[in-house]
Amino acid sequence: MKLSIPIILSILSIVNAIPLTNRDTNDKEKKTILLSNDDGWAALNIRAAYRELTNAGYQVILSAPASQRSGWSGRFVIPNSKTLSEDGEFSYVKKGDPSWGHESDNNTNIWYFDGTPASSVAFGLNYVIPKYFNDTKVDLVVNGPNEGTNLSNGMYTVSGTIGATYNSVYRGIPSVAFSGSNGNNSFFGDFVGQENDDKLAANILANKVVEFVNTLFKNSSSSESLLPITTGINVNFPNVGYDDESCTDPKWVFTRLSGSDSSTSNLKYDEDSGLFKSANGDFDALTKCVFGDCNLKSEASVLANNNCESTVSVFSIDYDASQNQSSQVKSSLSGLF
Ligand SMILES: *[C@@H]1O[C@H](CO)[C@@H](O)[C@H](O)[C@H]1NC(C)=O
Ligand SMILES: *[C@@H]1O[C@H](CO)[C@@H](O)[C@H](O)[C@H]1NC(C)=O
Ligand SMILES: *[C@@H]1O[C@H](CO)[C@@H](O)[C@H](O)[C@H]1NC(C)=O
Ligand SMILES: *[C@@H]1O[C@H](CO)[C@@H](O)[C@H](O)[C@H]1NC(C)=O
Ligand SMILES: *[C@@H]1O[C@H](CO)[C@@H](O)[C@H](O)[C@H]1NC(C)=O
Ligand SMILES: *[C@@H]1O[C@H](CO)[C@@H](O)[C@H](O)[C@H]1NC(C)=O
Repeated sequence: MKLSIPIILSILSIVNAIPLTNRDTNDKEKKTILLSNDDGWAALNIRAAYRELTNAGYQVILSAPASQRSGWSGRFVIPNSKTLSEDGEFSYVKKGDPSWGHESDNNTNIWYFDGTPASSVAFGLNYVIPKYFNDTKVDLVVNGPNEGTNLSNGMYTVSGTIGATYNSVYRGIPSVAFSGSNGNNSFFGDFVGQENDDKLAANILANKVVEFVNTLFKNSSSSESLLPITTGINVNFPNVGYDDESCTDPKWVFTRLSGSDSSTSNLKYDEDSGLFKSANGDFDALTKCVFGDCNLKSEASVLANNNCESTVSVFSIDYDASQNQSSQVKSSLSGLF
């Protein structure tokens, strides 16, 4: 990572301005963020988020899959060998390299793991942080920004980015999934020197991640968790910058996961090829509101509006049905209990 001259100067001036005792306190108060994704540790979006969160003063530890793991949901895969059996994403790590490791320039803040998004988060929490960061407490797990949106209850279980997020919430750690509309599978190494390009989607989204995270921390007292236990947040960004020049600073909209335009995977048989094709699953059940504020717009409908808006939906990992639903089902099974 390159530090630009103004950043170096501003760090120096802060250091000079603060007496030693305060500096120590500041270090202790530095919030720690574990950063992961499903597009791999060398993806452009996650590296931009790492850079901007670090510049914003957070201690950021990046721990993400060595390979592209989109659509791997919450699966928990761990390496069965000490070395990689194939190249990682963009061949940034290669067949035969260790199955886990960090940036070669002794940067122990940036790690890869030959696993899934969920297990890469666990690798960061259970191995990297105890071994390299004195078992420091992680205040927030940030995942993404994903390359491509991850919208609605229909994609909740499928997305690896969201899978890493709900696995963090299972552990009682506040977590947010971010997904961008910039779906190109970009290697950060192809964009070196464009860190200050304010129309590059990855840079715009990284700044929006910082704005979101700053807001979350600003409103929390140091004693309590950032989010109520069992909850996490799913954020989706619209097209920005070069992908939509009219949108450089999207507005935040508070939304819900289910509702209109929610969809999931489906398939149809293709007589010509004798094979199946994937299709969109627009099912009525995905539009129903049972929990939460039914007056909120669905995240899928807000993104579909293409109105330079980012969605913010709160989910719960208490997957139980409502009491009413549960008692209806129980009565259908009466005789068993
Ligand atoms: C990385 O760390 C090792 C061991 O501390 C040291 O020998 C080596 O010079 C360092 N390399 C770089 C590029 O800083
Ligand atoms: C590591 O953490 C322990 C317990 O919080 C603390 O006493 C110790 O000073 C820390 N060490 C370093 C090097 O930060
Ligand atoms: C959501 O994420 C998965 C992978 O995490 C991706 O394959 C899928 O295309 C995304 N869904 C949508 C609706 O873009
Ligand atoms: C898409 O990603 C590839 C791989 O990093 C990169 O070379 C290319 O420039 C990207 N295209 C766009 C439009 O960003
Ligand atoms: C959160 O911060 C905003 C902006 O500073 C403020 O308006 C709001 O009242 C705060 N909410 C809480 C619960 O602290
Ligand atoms: C429970 O569900 C039934 C059937 O959908 C509905 O008629 C009833 O109003 C619900 N009761 C409560 C307390 O929500």
